[in-house]
Amino acid sequence: MEFISNCTTDAISNAAKALKDGHLVAFPTETVYGLGADATNEKAVARIYSVKARPNDHPLIVHISSINKLEDWATDIPDYAIKLAREFWPGPMTLILPRKELAKDFITGGQNNVGLRVPAQPVAFALLKKFEELGGQGVAAPSANRFGAVSPTTADAVVEEIGKYLDQTDLVLDGDNCLIGIESTIIDCTGLVPKVLRPGAITEEMIELNLEKNTDKSEGKSAVKAPGLMASHYAPKAKVFLNSFAEPGEGFLALSKFQTPVGAIRLASPISVEQYARDLYVALRSADQQGLKKVAVVVPEGTGLAEAIRDRLTKAATR
Ligand code: TXA
Ligand code: MG
Repeated sequence: MEFISNCTTDAISNAAKALKDGHLVAFPTETVYGLGADATNEKAVARIYSVKARPNDHPLIVHISSINKLEDWATDIPDYAIKLAREFWPGPMTLILPRKELAKDFITGGQNNVGLRVPAQPVAFALLKKFEELGGQGVAAPSANRFGAVSPTTADAVVEEIGKYLDQTDLVLDGDNCLIGIESTIIDCTGLVPKVLRPGAITEEMIELNLEKNTDKSEGKSAVKAPGLMASHYAPKAKVFLNSFAEPGEGFLALSKFQTPVGAIRLASPISVEQYARDLYVALRSADQQGLKKVAVVVPEGTGLAEAIRDRLTKAATR
């Protein structure tokens, strides 16, 4: 694997070419780092699954450079999905839509829907643009971690997670720390009204304000199967305990207004919910690096991004 610390225009061109040639390229997005492959190349996509050790019925998100590419991959796109795309792309939002022919079973896990996202991070955006100039149609990219583990939000974390499983010809692009720090909001757009499947930085409130209508908040199963959204996920090796007290020697993660319990090891002191999201995976990763067995977490309260953080922490605490 080659680590590219300086993402110049030339370096990005080379990375786009590597993707086109069927290699894997890990790249930064504003949410978390993704492990990219040409979304039309079955062999390359198969390598994503083996590097991540991911069950192969789990669908992948296809990353495109603009809303103009939406119709290459999706059909029967409801007006509300177009409205959301216009408002929030490029950005931390994935739309699930009925697939077109281009989205093969090896991308959708055999479902008739495909997940699409236009990322805003400059390196990601430039990479996708260049890839499309070379005739590419989209880049499949899950978070660049081993299955079920904590998503990487730095290039070093990518190497730590999957470096040893990558080939010599694969690349890791370093584009600094991810600004948002947790994965994109996933919205099922296959029904009459949108339904949030995975909360993220594009919040329910933002969606409803934009569309001037309510989202589907029913608890029941969505018609869309999203196996990655399972009970246990995003989990470090250390055991995570929510809203419990940290004993001496245990990790502690909470907003800065909460004092560190005596003897506990403070993993982060975010001053806002935004910073909490940005620090979350760095903190969980640092607990493992320090060999901690337990992490006590005070989850943030409220709606919006706090909800997304609680979602990830609840899954991290499930074993
Ligand atoms: O922020 C993100 O979304 C990052 C960056 C790299 O873009 N990607 C990411 O991918 O988080 P991944 O594969 O780690 O998580 C995507 C989730 C999975 O739970 C998967 O099951 C679901 O999205 N998903 C993808 N395509 C889907 C589809 N067609 N239908 C239902 N769920 C889908
Ligand atoms: Mg993931």
